[in-house]
Amino acid sequence: MSKLPKGFLWGGAVAAHQLEGGSDADGKGVSIADVMTAGANGVDRKITDGVCPGENYPNHEAIDFYHRYHEDVALFAELGLTCFRTSIAWTRIFPNGDETTPNEAGLKFYDDLFDDLLAHGIEPVVTLSHFEMPYHLVKVYGGWRDRRVIDFFTHFAATVFERYQHKVKYWMTFNEINNQNGLNKWAFFTNSGVLLKADEDPEKVLYQVGHYELVASAKAVQIGHAINPAMQIGCMIAVWPTYPASSDPRDVLKAERFAQANYWFSDVHVWGTYPNWLKRYQAKQQFDLDITAADLETLAAGTVDYIGLSYYASGAIKAAANEPANFMTRSADLNVDNPHLQATEWGWPIDPVGLRYSLNWLTDRYHLPLFIVENGMGAPDKVEADGQIHDPYRVDYLKRHIEQLALAVDEDGVDLMGYTPWGVIDLVSAGTGQMEKRYGFIYVDKDDQGRGTLDRSKKDSFYWYQKVIATNGEQL
Ligand code: BG6
Repeated sequence: MSKLPKGFLWGGAVAAHQLEGGSDADGKGVSIADVMTAGANGVDRKITDGVCPGENYPNHEAIDFYHRYHEDVALFAELGLTCFRTSIAWTRIFPNGDETTPNEAGLKFYDDLFDDLLAHGIEPVVTLSHFEMPYHLVKVYGGWRDRRVIDFFTHFAATVFERYQHKVKYWMTFNEINNQNGLNKWAFFTNSGVLLKADEDPEKVLYQVGHYELVASAKAVQIGHAINPAMQIGCMIAVWPTYPASSDPRDVLKAERFAQANYWFSDVHVWGTYPNWLKRYQAKQQFDLDITAADLETLAAGTVDYIGLSYYASGAIKAAANEPANFMTRSADLNVDNPHLQATEWGWPIDPVGLRYSLNWLTDRYHLPLFIVENGMGAPDKVEADGQIHDPYRVDYLKRHIEQLALAVDEDGVDLMGYTPWGVIDLVSAGTGQMEKRYGFIYVDKDDQGRGTLDRSKKDSFYWYQKVIATNGEQL
């Protein structure tokens, strides 16, 4: 007997900008992903001022899914996927973001893609905003700094909900909305289209753009439910549990505050209200945010149906020697290595038990169904002389995580809707812009310099995952 329920969704996850390519096809506008150059392991991607000649923009072609999706969907069907998570590139539908009339060619593309998936018995799972807002909104409005972007986003959401309501049941609003909590330049840009100014307080910016996004999400949930109450609309958060570095109560309090500061986005998504500690903190810091009474009503009325989450790794943290009363010291030095865990080549600690821990923690905090919509390990792959790709490391990573999610369901009673490992087919890394940081069961012949035939081939892990799905997770 399978530990996982009948109908458990087995899938794979991608994002439009990381695989579609066709960056100017059929009227598509420039997105924020289109102005990010290729980086490398340990080398940041550059954000350029528009698309500049001579730069290498890996998302422009990506793996050309835009023109090859039909063959790729056939491979997903052969793999046995019962769902497929992707996003809708906002710039295919509204090239600049602030138009009133959508681009019919862009809408048609997703009609065809969803039809193709459904014809193969694969349920589409769709994120509205996955690091790909229109670049025009950055230039003219400063990204999510501007309240008007709420209306642009909800118009986009209403347009695609209306159009695909009978094709797509599972939706999520903003991908990894909480990864901006780290206040790093990269996440501000990918999540919010924000370029930080030298003289501003990043924390204040975080709370303001985050608030507008949460209001937009709550409005989208209400709009979606009004269009078709059968649609399930979730949030999507990055889950990266961070343990106390020791049993010193100060480290424990530090880890708890770190978690509170990381999960306030999901608190608002699920509870429809801000957590007390944050209201107090924002008031004491005198951030003077634009949060209206009407916004608070919107948040309360637009809570999500489920929690989508990514899970890759965990961390550990210690308290600073001189923590202030609010324990909010932010310093990279406070994050410490966990001696019990090994890391990937890109330095992400591998922690399968942390997945079970997180599923329990989220269940107890939110009492909502959970959906693991990203999990995986980026690794380079080697193509053997005979064309085969042996990737036991990928199988080992995923197997150990599936074991833990099955325990969470079977032993702990977690309500888990499904599992979609990241990058079911090799695609462009969001963090580094590389191709060689591979997650897929399906290999794509393309390297970090953009060379290759773009041909697809099945790795060993393809056949392994095929069996996992066919046995509903029994045969790992
Ligand atoms: C998540 C994102 O942060 O992690 C994906 O939702 C991303 O877009 C994935 O690709 C893996 O990160 P990376 O940097 O290895 O591509």
